Amino acid sequence: MRVEIVDLHKHFGPVRANDGVSLTLETGSIHGLLGENGAGKSTLMKCLSGYQLPDRGTIRVDGQTVVFSSPSEAIQHGIGMLHQDPLDFPQMRVLDNFLLAFDRRMLPNRRRGRAILRELGERFQFALDPEAEVTSLTIGERQQLEILRLLALGAQVIILDEPTTGISAPQKIKLFATLRRLAEEEGRSVVFVSHKLAEVESLCDRVTVLRQGRVTGEVEMPCSVERMVVLMFGRHIPPAECKRVELGPPVLRVEQATIPSYRLTVQDAGIEVRAGEVVGLAGLEGSGQRLFLRACAGLERVAAGRVHLGGQEMTAAPYRRFLAAGVAYVPANRLEEGLVGELTVTEHVALVNRSGPFFIDWPATREQAMAQIQHFNVIGRPESPVSALSGGNQQRLLLALLPAGLRLLLMEHPTRGLDVESARWIWQQLMARREEGTAIVFISADLDELLEYSDRIVVFFGGQMSAPLPACDTTVEQLGYLIAGRERDKETR
Ligand SMILES: Nc1ncnc2c1ncn2[C@@H]1O[C@H](COP(=O)(O)OP(=O)(O)O)[C@@H](O)[C@H]1O
Ligand SMILES: [Mg+2]
Repeated sequence: MRVEIVDLHKHFGPVRANDGVSLTLETGSIHGLLGENGAGKSTLMKCLSGYQLPDRGTIRVDGQTVVFSSPSEAIQHGIGMLHQDPLDFPQMRVLDNFLLAFDRRMLPNRRRGRAILRELGERFQFALDPEAEVTSLTIGERQQLEILRLLALGAQVIILDEPTTGISAPQKIKLFATLRRLAEEEGRSVVFVSHKLAEVESLCDRVTVLRQGRVTGEVEMPCSVERMVVLMFGRHIPPAECKRVELGPPVLRVEQATIPSYRLTVQDAGIEVRAGEVVGLAGLEGSGQRLFLRACAGLERVAAGRVHLGGQEMTAAPYRRFLAAGVAYVPANRLEEGLVGELTVTEHVALVNRSGPFFIDWPATREQAMAQIQHFNVIGRPESPVSALSGGNQQRLLLALLPAGLRLLLMEHPTRGLDVESARWIWQQLMARREEGTAIVFISADLDELLEYSDRIVVFFGGQMSAPLPACDTTVEQLGYLIAGRERDKETR
């Protein structure tokens, strides 16, 4: 069975989740769909499996154009998907859940159903107790049940969206063996969606890489990790000359910090950042860079080690003290942590005028909002609720609201999801602040951005921080090597 996706578009408001994606799936192979969070992978697969309707584009099965308005229509054509969060009916027993696979007319009785489940389970060495409650199963076992259900439904194309999240290492080995078997021995197509390079590398035959809703490349495996990293994160054209900046005195000093979290612990992280310096934090999402950045603002507990600001010890100080010391933190979730969606631009200006009088002078605040809107080219009105602004304008507003003369600015993904013009504008503003001596530490998943604007870059992998690399003498390949954690990579093969 051959499945083709041609020029598929799916937009959510201004977000182009899929922006003209084409992809062909061949029988008997494992096709990887690789890309950072937000690249558009799940959207594409939901369109292919009938959970979402594309805005535009064609899906063909064996040369015939199909339109799926529900998952059951997709499965009738042999396409089934396992979700990032397994979709099931937790109040049920395993057998009842499995029986849901069958059409009412073809529904086997419980005994027959149990036999089919056992047979299928034995084929893949899944030990599922038909009478167990689905709620008692581990995520890995629920996946196994879902796979069997899709097989019973006759799925020829099986899509797995980030299936290794939350399953144990032995379950992962078993899952990979199952997927290989489905492809090699049973001639089905498997689509493996992941943002984890090492997994895609060890499992897939062919890989399509998505970035910002577009296909950046399609490669046959084996393929160099460096190449895949460049496809995932962007290609860097090194500047003709490297500009060196005069750095001021040390602003931030972190020494041998241990920053625990329930998923990952950052170990032994240390860096010194000087006034006017820009440091980029690279790494696959969830490698520790965000924990580290948040710890630099007192938003994350430092269990061991020290954080100094200026010459002042700030270890274990609350965010308030960091703020008072001239530190600002700009989160990636603009609407969840940075701005208040329902409040207007004017109200935001009033909120940050903390030193003002107790009573708010609304006409004056509105004037001020108007001035900020003009100065920062925000497309909106003082009365606009910020949730009505586009991502680029929200980010402009966030910058407009930051106080002047900051000592240290910490930013997550300063330009993620923005158009090229807005991104350039944001960096102009940031560079102007750095000229005034503000130190900037930022996280980005965009290699271009990291290499272009940083003085130094550190790479996180599995909670470990690399030595700082001078951006001028660093190549994409070196960065790719570190991002993929090659030396430390102990992924199962
Ligand atoms: N239902 C939705 N409503 C609004 N935006 C969405 C919706 N689904 C996805 N998006 C946006 O589309 C982009 C791609 O998302 P997604 O397909 O989930 O990416 P991935 O699976 O690669 O992480 C993201 O910016 C995401 O926020
Ligand atoms: Mg996803």
